[in-house]
Amino acid sequence: MTQATRSTILTGDRTTGPLHLGHYIGSLRARVQLQHEANQFLLLADVQALTDNVGRHQKVTENVVEVALDYLAAGIDPAKSTILIQSQVPELAELSQYLLNLVTVARLERNPTIKEEIRLRGFERDIPAGFLTYPVSQAADITAFKATHVPVGDDQLPMIEQTNELVRRFNNTVDRAVLVECEAVLSQVTRLPGIDGKAKMSKSLGNAITLGATPDEITKAVNNMYTDPNHLRVSDPGQVEGNVVFAFLDAFEPDVQKVDELKAHYQRGGLGDSVVKRVLNERLQTLIEPIRTRRQELEADRGEVMEILRRGTMRAREVAAQTLSEVKGALGLSYFQN
Ligand code: TRP
Repeated sequence: MTQATRSTILTGDRTTGPLHLGHYIGSLRARVQLQHEANQFLLLADVQALTDNVGRHQKVTENVVEVALDYLAAGIDPAKSTILIQSQVPELAELSQYLLNLVTVARLERNPTIKEEIRLRGFERDIPAGFLTYPVSQAADITAFKATHVPVGDDQLPMIEQTNELVRRFNNTVDRAVLVECEAVLSQVTRLPGIDGKAKMSKSLGNAITLGATPDEITKAVNNMYTDPNHLRVSDPGQVEGNVVFAFLDAFEPDVQKVDELKAHYQRGGLGDSVVKRVLNERLQTLIEPIRTRRQELEADRGEVMEILRRGTMRAREVAAQTLSEVKGALGLSYFQN
């Protein structure tokens, strides 16, 4: 990428727990690569986490540091990427307020991701207004930095669509191209299943392997992985589809030929679960060991981590403040200039 076309990337993670292998494969690994090519902002979305964690604010703020540790341990370089804390950039809240006038309640209620989350959380008609409107806050996160690219999972596509609707409405309203439309960047890797075989790895479902997992925790998780329930004897032919061990090998074992051979052998019969699990365990141990070690070193130096977050947040504030001054200027809200 040349300097002229250098893109601005914004990513966001709700700080509801430390990151796990699903995050690593779905987004974090790519961000570590992207930081060399683009101007990258990583937003720790504590404000968004609060929209459905009322009363659990302490957990949310503790997790800000946990996620930051995961970023840094996995290879995010604060000299190349800007890590910021959402709640400490008041310009984001300010921009949300202006954008909220450009969306209807009916449109917010139609967002498919929000709909699904409302169902999962059992909000029914008692939806916190802050929760219903978080896609607008997310649009503010993206547009405040004039992000051109937003790496997301497919569940976040409705947010990008709503963001771009808001950008167009805003620019139309003020008759000026102030905000910038963005493009979703979908991760190539399909979603990593939980170790129990459920479709999605998630800390709250208790089926995750975190990036700080100890060697023992990794081994236990691999040994507990859901395989083929009908593969009773080693000599039986086994199923690869829906088999979590093979889904993980597909995601984490770079030697594709080796994985293909294991699959063929398993399907033929004669390959036991314990052998495949041993291969995967070794792979995951090798992957996580340096991340865990680096994480422990950083944990021992929290002052340094907080300093990285403070500097990143300050840098981000300058960018957001510039956009806000353009936004307010376009709306005629610059009473005291000149
Ligand atoms: N909604 C995202 C999630 O569920 C987090 C997030 C907040 C985000 N602001 C963002 C993602 C901006 C992309 C861009 O984790």
